[in-house]
Amino acid sequence: TETGSLSIVVLGASGDLAKKKTFPALFNLYRQGFLHPDEVCILGYARTKISNDELRNRIRGYLPHGKGASNDQAEDVSKFLQLIKYVSGSYDSEEGFRSLDKEISAHELLKHTAVGSSRRLFYFALPPSVYPSVCKMIKNCCMNECMIRLHRGLDALALWTPRGSDIGADRGGWTRIVVEKPFGKDLESAEQLSTQIGELFDEPQIYRIDHYLGKELVQNLLVLRFANRFFLPLWNRDNIDNVQIVFREDFGTEGRGGYFDQYGIIRDIIQNHLLQVLCLVAMEKPVSLKPEHIRDEKVKVLQSVIPLKDEEVVLGQYDGYTEDPTVPDNSNTPTFATMVLRIHNERWEGVPFILKAGKALNSRKAEIRVQFKDVPGDIFRCQKQSRNEFVIRLQPSEAMYMKLTVKQPGLEMSTIQSELDLSYGQRYQGVPIPEAYERLILDTIRGDQQHFVRRDELKAAWEIFTPLLHRIDRGEVKSVSYKPGSRGPVEADQLLERAGYVQTHGYIWIPPTL
Ligand code: BG6
Repeated sequence: TETGSLSIVVLGASGDLAKKKTFPALFNLYRQGFLHPDEVCILGYARTKISNDELRNRIRGYLPHGKGASNDQAEDVSKFLQLIKYVSGSYDSEEGFRSLDKEISAHELLKHTAVGSSRRLFYFALPPSVYPSVCKMIKNCCMNECMIRLHRGLDALALWTPRGSDIGADRGGWTRIVVEKPFGKDLESAEQLSTQIGELFDEPQIYRIDHYLGKELVQNLLVLRFANRFFLPLWNRDNIDNVQIVFREDFGTEGRGGYFDQYGIIRDIIQNHLLQVLCLVAMEKPVSLKPEHIRDEKVKVLQSVIPLKDEEVVLGQYDGYTEDPTVPDNSNTPTFATMVLRIHNERWEGVPFILKAGKALNSRKAEIRVQFKDVPGDIFRCQKQSRNEFVIRLQPSEAMYMKLTVKQPGLEMSTIQSELDLSYGQRYQGVPIPEAYERLILDTIRGDQQHFVRRDELKAAWEIFTPLLHRIDRGEVKSVSYKPGSRGPVEADQLLERAGYVQTHGYIWIPPTL
C-alpha cells in the first residue's frame, strides 16, 4: 500500500452531487479507516465565497448526526469535518487553482515525515461544460510533485520525478481525476470532450465513474458467471431466450427537469448504467482480472451490437412532465424507453437484450432477468407459463433467485413455480453493503480502473445510441404518453412480448422477511 499525503479535492463542493454522494462516501471511507487523518486532507472547491465552517455545516446535514446517530457516529462526524477545508475560486482562472495548490502543498509539507508520495485526487462534481477548463487549470497549477523536489527547491527538478507523473508512485505519487457523466450528448461531443481531456491527462489518470459499476450485485456478476460451473454451459443462445435489464423509478424528474430535458432517459440511464450491466452479462471470460483485460471484453460486446431498429424501440413521456417550468411545453424528451439490443456474435446471435428504463412508474427497482427457453419435449404441459428465469435484483432488497418448476408438495402430481432464493438481507445478516460511490472512490485511491469506463468503451457506447438520439432530438421518433404511477406505455409490454418474453402469470416473488 502507498503511503504519504493524500489530498482529495472535491470540485463543485457546494453542489448536490458533492453533498449527497461524494462527501458521505468519503465519510464512510473515513469511518472504516480507509482515509487516515495522518495522511488525508479533503479540500472543497467552488465559486461561492464561504468559510471552512460554512462548508462543513452544509455537509454535516448529509452525514449521520443529531437524533438517531450514536455518540460514536457524532464524534466521527466532527473529526471527519475537521479534515475538510474550503478554497473558493472560479473554474477558469489560475488564481483559484494556485490557492488550491498552495493548500495542498502546505498539507503535503506538513505530512512529509510519512515519507513517500504526493497523491492528489480531483473529483469533478461539476457540470461537464467546465471539464476542459478545469482540467487545464489542474494541469497548469495543481499536479503532484515529488516530495524531494519540494524540499530541495526547483534546481533539483531534473533529477526527480516530473510534475504530474503517475509512475514511480513511491517517489512522485500521482494526480488522478474522477469525472461523472454526462460525457457529452452524442458520439461527436463525447469524442470532443475525450480529446480535450486526453490532451492533458493520460488514460490511467482518468476515472470515468458510472456508479452502477459500484453496486454490489453488479460487481458480483463477474464472480457469478466465471466462478460457477452452473452457468458456464447455459449462458448462451442455445439455452437463453431473452435477457431484460430493467430500471424503474417511482418518482419523476423533480427538481432536475432542466438537466433532464436536455438529456432524456436514454442518455441518463440506458447508454451508461444499463449498457454497462449488459456488457458484464454478455461478455466473454476475460484473460485475467486485470482491469484492461476486463475492459477489453466489454468493448468487444459493445462493438458487436447491431444498429437499433425503430420497430424495436418504444419511447414514453409521463403525463405532467412538461408542467415543470424548466421543461419546454412541446418537449419530446423521453422519460421512459424500452428497446431491444442485438449482439452479433457466436454466443448471442438471435437473443434479444431488452433494456428498459423509466421515471414516474409504479415501483422503484433495478434488475436483470434472464429467461431460459422452453424445455424441449415437455411432458408436463406447463412450460409455456413457467420458463426458468434467473433474476438478479440489483436494488432494493439485493437478491438473486432462480425461478423453477417443482412438484407441488402433496399427494397429487402437479407442478408449481418456486424459487431458489439468495436474498442478501437474509443470507448476510448484519453485513453492510457499501454504497456504490464509497467503493468506487476507494478504487480511485488504490488505482484500480476495473470499474471505470475506458475511452474506447465510451465511444462504442455512444456509437450504439447516437443515430436514434439524433432522430429523437429532431422529433422524428415520438414519445407516447403514459400515466405517472403506471407500468409505462402498453406498447412497451407489446414489444417485450414480440421479442419473445413470456410472462409467468400468477407468480410473484416475495422477498423473505427476516
Ligand atoms: C443517476 C441518474 O445517474 O442515477 C438519475 O442521473 C437516477 O436520474 C440515478 O435517479 C439512479 O441511481 P440509483 O443508484 O438510485 O439507482
